Amino acid sequence: MKAFTIPDNIYLLGMPGSGKSTLGMELSEHLKIEFYDLDQYIENHAGKGITQIFIEDGEDGFRVIENHCLQRVSEQPYPKVIATGGGTPCFHHNIDYINNNGVGIFLDVPLKIIADRLIQQGTDRRPLLRDKTPKELLAQLQDHFFQRKDYYLKVLIHLEGPSISMNDIIEELKAI
Ligand code: S3P
Repeated sequence: MKAFTIPDNIYLLGMPGSGKSTLGMELSEHLKIEFYDLDQYIENHAGKGITQIFIEDGEDGFRVIENHCLQRVSEQPYPKVIATGGGTPCFHHNIDYINNNGVGIFLDVPLKIIADRLIQQGTDRRPLLRDKTPKELLAQLQDHFFQRKDYYLKVLIHLEGPSISMNDIIEELKAI
């Protein structure tokens, strides 16, 4: 493999179910660096699950904790891969923070594929997508994507397709 400098923060962005955590873990193992799932970090930090945070603090409260945790995790002084939450880039200027503190990668997977994956995976940590019929789920994803895509598109790397692989990410990282 051609060598390249690994940035301190490699952020994976995209809709819920776009593969941020799975690819993030694979990538971190391959590069032999740390992996953080921001949702998991938030739950550890808050001492309660994402759904409970939404119930007790509302989405606004969740977004404040999310912003805080994004910064705390990013400040660790070693290279790492961070899987962000689907809404992370769209609140509290997080997208600017991401672009100023590392390399962002947008995993742009077709929404129909995402909807099928979410039906399989369930929506435990995804209160915004809970208790929906498949048709309602797809409509909610379309609505969110419409609001979010301009934020996602602000990052350096945009990978698009139904089956983005770790090697696709490595090739892009080598190219920048
Ligand atoms: C959210 C996505 C979730 C989680 C929270 C809010 C969103 O993360 O952060 O439920 O706003 O789309 P995933 O993208 O990992 O599902």
